[in-house]
Amino acid sequence: MTQHLIGLLLGNEEDWPGAFESLMRRMPQVSYEGETHSFATERITIEPFDLRMKPRHSLVIDRLAHWYYHPREWIKKVTLMNDVYLMNNPFTFQAMEKHAAYCAMMRLGLNVPETWLIPYKKPPDNPRFPYTAERYNRPFDLKEIGARIGYPLFMKPFDGGAWVGVTRIADEAELQRRYDESGERLMHLQAAVEDFEVFARALSIGAETMVMRYDPGNPLHDRYQVEHGFLAPETGAEVVTIGRLINAYFLWEFNSCETLVKDGVVYPIDYANACPDVSIISLHYYFPWAIKALIKWSIFCTVTERPMKKDIVTQPYIEIGDRDDLTYEEKLAEYGRLADEHFETARYHEFCEKYLAHVDEMMVDYIESTEFDQLLVYTVKEAFPTHEHERFIAHYRGLLAAWAKDQRALA
Ligand SMILES: Nc1ncnc2c1ncn2[C@@H]1O[C@H](COP(=O)(O)OP(=O)(O)OP(=O)(O)O)[C@@H](O)[C@H]1O
Ligand SMILES: [Mg+2]
Repeated sequence: MTQHLIGLLLGNEEDWPGAFESLMRRMPQVSYEGETHSFATERITIEPFDLRMKPRHSLVIDRLAHWYYHPREWIKKVTLMNDVYLMNNPFTFQAMEKHAAYCAMMRLGLNVPETWLIPYKKPPDNPRFPYTAERYNRPFDLKEIGARIGYPLFMKPFDGGAWVGVTRIADEAELQRRYDESGERLMHLQAAVEDFEVFARALSIGAETMVMRYDPGNPLHDRYQVEHGFLAPETGAEVVTIGRLINAYFLWEFNSCETLVKDGVVYPIDYANACPDVSIISLHYYFPWAIKALIKWSIFCTVTERPMKKDIVTQPYIEIGDRDDLTYEEKLAEYGRLADEHFETARYHEFCEKYLAHVDEMMVDYIESTEFDQLLVYTVKEAFPTHEHERFIAHYRGLLAAWAKDQRALA
């Protein structure tokens, strides 16, 4: 009998970890190739560690290391020395921020809007700077770059996240003002995709991807729309493939990819999110899908001993991207094939069918349980002011009940 300990490295979230832990407690053993596997979860605590210590975890879901460096160094150690499987790969998430992701996907031929990187407004605080700048920093004409890109445009941090420092810029004067305010942040200028028909956000967890219609202007509880068939089937498939390509290329397994769809063209604008939002408050109807995908992928990886890939291999992608004889659609099909190979998509689905068929029903039962309702009520009370509790508890109960009903109808 093999017991797999799944570690959760958490910041201030309680909702999805609570659901994940409840489901894992209910999870029956899995008999795979003559061996019995059972699962336990544990929240990882932060404490001094000997670099030669042996971790007890088989897999760790990391939600903290992108800003907290002690656990970040711990997860690097446990994967380098002890082969712990990590969601996400800490090396490629540190080295490959938004900027690198734009570059890689431009090279592969995706429709990333025109994007420029401009030098710091306020230079790095380094005694070598004045000499370097005097010799090598070329004066540049911000207005000219703005005019080349065209207005409106977006200014956003090259490594950004959580909408911090992102502004939509209408004209030259505003560009100058915003640049002056950008201070020590290194900024991209990006052509705006105006009047798009759909903002599609693809959330990927392991080999699964959910494309959701997203309205970034709405309050948090109302951004993901419960809507099916909002994209033409080919466009939907394109959005899925783009998300999976990016994840396979950078070895990310828990990531969201934002695309804007206009006149049938899919523009990826943001797709390096080490810690995508999976809270009940924002995902609501889609929350059970996310928890199921996390559970299934964790079990698949631990039971089949899927080795965690640590090194990015870009060559196969670049070879396809550089071919002149392939159209964009043909390249995407090839990228999709590489992504499926990377994620072992077919094998994963077979595994789920054979060993985890009960998880779908377990999730419906859980969502309809008092245990989940308590988590929902607690989460709403934490997220909203008192006078809104009643309304939002009813709102989320309604959405989750609708999900359970849809699942029962499908089954
Ligand atoms: N090129 C663009 N065209 C149109 N809208 C854009 C463009 N770039 C960014 N936006 C808008 O600005 C928002 C924030 O930009 P972006 O997603 O790149 O930054 P972020 O800091 O990663 O934000 P978040 O964490 O909310 O995803 C997007 O959700 C979108 O509404
Ligand atoms: Mg974004």
